[in-house]
Amino acid sequence: MADITLISGSTLGGAEYVAEHLAEKLEEAGFSTETLHGPLLEDLSVEGIWLLITSTHGAGDLPDNLQPLYDELQEQQPDLSGVRFGSIGIGSREYDTFCGAVDKVDAAFTACGAKQIGETLKINVLDHDIPEDPAEEWLGKWKNLLKND
Ligand SMILES: Cc1cc2nc3c(=O)[nH]c(=O)nc-3n(C[C@H](O)[C@H](O)[C@H](O)COP(=O)(O)O)c2cc1C
Repeated sequence: MADITLISGSTLGGAEYVAEHLAEKLEEAGFSTETLHGPLLEDLSVEGIWLLITSTHGAGDLPDNLQPLYDELQEQQPDLSGVRFGSIGIGSREYDTFCGAVDKVDAAFTACGAKQIGETLKINVLDHDIPEDPAEEWLGKWKNLLKND
């Protein structure tokens, strides 16, 4: 099992690129990683460290490729007490439902017993041409929190 499993939810590819970039940075820092774009529950080890990166679509909706995992979490309520996770949302402040998807998935993970490490980073794409930049800065602090927790 990899040290950190990155889970991305994306419609247009932006969140996937961020996930791949962060995986590269984590590997450089000595962690082994696995990056899954829109996984199902059966693709995941329900223990260890997860890093969620998801954009928001529709009106606060999950990207289509992450909706099935979310539905499984709601329906099956798996025991995630062995999971620690961090979260990054990507969205636009043009929408009232700014980063609504990451809030939904955070709540679903927590409801299943997973423990969140650090605060959710919400990246407003209107402020950042390259979302990888704020994500990488956040990752530096999050890595340290993992050590202390
Ligand atoms: C049709 C549409 C609906 C969107 N709805 C929201 C929304 O409700 N909340 C939000 O924060 N961002 C919203 N966005 C902005 C996207 O989350 C943002 O463009 C993001 O960078 C897309 O990432 P992706 O390439 O990973 O799909 C929307 C974008 C589109 C095109």
